[in-house]
Amino acid sequence: AESVEHTFVVSQTKMTRLCKETLVTVVNGQLPGPTIEVTDGDSVTVHVVNRSPSNITIHWHGVKQFRNGWFDGVPMITQCPIMPNKNFTYRFNVVRQEGTLWWHAHVPGLRATLHGAFVIRPRHGAESYPFPKPHREVPVIIGDWWEKDLVEVAKNMTKNIFTAYASASTVNGLVGDLFNCSGVAKEGYVLDVEPGKTYLLRIINAGLFSEFYLKIAGHKFTVVAADANYVSPFTTDVIAIAPGETVDALLIADAPPGRYYMVALPNQAPLPDTQTPEYATRGMVQYKVSQGPCSGPTSVSSSRGTEEEGCRGPSSGDVPIVPEMPDIHDTVTSFYFHSNLTSLRHHARLPVQRRVDERMFIVLGLGTICKQGHKFCKRGNSNEDILVATMNNVSFQPPAVTSTPLLEAHYYHTGPCGKMQDLPKMPPKLFNFTDEALIPFGPKEMRLEPTYKATLVRRFQHGAIVEIVFQSTAMLQGDSNPMHLHGHDMVVLAQGLGNYDPVKDGARYNHVNPPVKNTVLVPNLGWIAVRFVANNPGVWFMHCHYEFHLSMGMAAVFIVEDGPTMDTSLPPPPANFPTCGHDIDLMPK
Ligand code: C2O
Repeated sequence: AESVEHTFVVSQTKMTRLCKETLVTVVNGQLPGPTIEVTDGDSVTVHVVNRSPSNITIHWHGVKQFRNGWFDGVPMITQCPIMPNKNFTYRFNVVRQEGTLWWHAHVPGLRATLHGAFVIRPRHGAESYPFPKPHREVPVIIGDWWEKDLVEVAKNMTKNIFTAYASASTVNGLVGDLFNCSGVAKEGYVLDVEPGKTYLLRIINAGLFSEFYLKIAGHKFTVVAADANYVSPFTTDVIAIAPGETVDALLIADAPPGRYYMVALPNQAPLPDTQTPEYATRGMVQYKVSQGPCSGPTSVSSSRGTEEEGCRGPSSGDVPIVPEMPDIHDTVTSFYFHSNLTSLRHHARLPVQRRVDERMFIVLGLGTICKQGHKFCKRGNSNEDILVATMNNVSFQPPAVTSTPLLEAHYYHTGPCGKMQDLPKMPPKLFNFTDEALIPFGPKEMRLEPTYKATLVRRFQHGAIVEIVFQSTAMLQGDSNPMHLHGHDMVVLAQGLGNYDPVKDGARYNHVNPPVKNTVLVPNLGWIAVRFVANNPGVWFMHCHYEFHLSMGMAAVFIVEDGPTMDTSLPPPPANFPTCGHDIDLMPK
């Protein structure tokens, strides 16, 4: 095992997209940020130097951080945020994981530009992939471009003021030619391919809000992994990917040489009145000819849309081929794509027995709270109340930056700080979750429940097998609900549309080859049933990866108790681990 070291300098940089210079917060001046490439078993050290005006933490999305929650990178849950002009060094090992994950800032809004791929190769080299060794591996990061200041946008989100949509969607940071003025690399992201070769696309949805459909004209994908867990390969012409998810797919360059558009379309469930703008983005798959100046070992494949004369296939002068995309309101394609995921092998590592120690039924919804200072307020009156996102009708209140991070409080048993409350295991009332009348802002009276905010926690005994059914509601129609659990993978037993029925739906759980994910997409107007083994001692965030919902409080904290031995317990914080309010500076001099 090796040690991989990076320095991430976070700063504001001007970038030009859509013919406009925008100040964006990025790592090392790059968008997307640097790719971290490791081999399973490696240790990783990342020095973060914060030269931006914002508080920052970096989260290693999907990396299990076994007994290492200190470096999970969630502000006030696992660490104090890295203040401007301060540094912090993350140290962790990658243990028995392979595939594509990613890293991103875990602060409201800024993950839109502070993110990058985290690639884990197998211990025994690329030869040991459970699929033919690809000719080349390329991250394909789908995201959005914001012209509005993201810190401002995020601040407004917590107050339920939705001030802006993204200005464009992007592939690897480029907006592409569907936008009038796409600036640098006008064609967007260009993937150069050689005829007959196979490419491993490591696809990441780093977008704040949208689930995307990804297609490449004239080509099919073979999906081989999701969330860094191998799946039984299946062929599809469209990939559906929700915020926080990753998909590894093989692309074989087996079409007639030419140019083919790659399109990423944000999908949007139909809503009665509101219409969100459509911001599809496109890049290009471009074949190289086998003769000419570009062949041979000196040929450099371009990933930034540079044009090398003479490199193109015979049809380079032709108009590139455009894929036919699903309808923007199509949610069925996503449902089937996600249903197609099954794990490649029997998951011996994750005990998927029938034993369940804890069951939770978590209803995702919206509620209202009175604005501060008002004891009573009229529901539905936006001057008086605020719309919040809820789980079982309680909304998450992040711990104050002036307090102690929850992980530290847990380790030192320094009792609850602030208003902590157990996340209820069940909703306060059961109702028909997909009833039309529950859609807020509809013609009928809003059926939002009055609620409150609290720092929601749920404690689990070490080793407990926990089953959670996430039930979506009509209130959330139109939004995607990708639920992400830190520190653990979840086994997806079943998903369905409508209301979850414990008898009928419980009977059709997949105990044979359920997919294993760190982010599970709750189907629109439906439910998903997952299990995980609470075997990673520490304090872990669990939340919707849809930024608006997260800011509005769709989150909770899972506390996994220590096991009986040293090996199953949370070790003390690393030496010199900073406490809030003090200088956070662990950079070696
Ligand atoms: Cu990718 Cu808590 O996040």
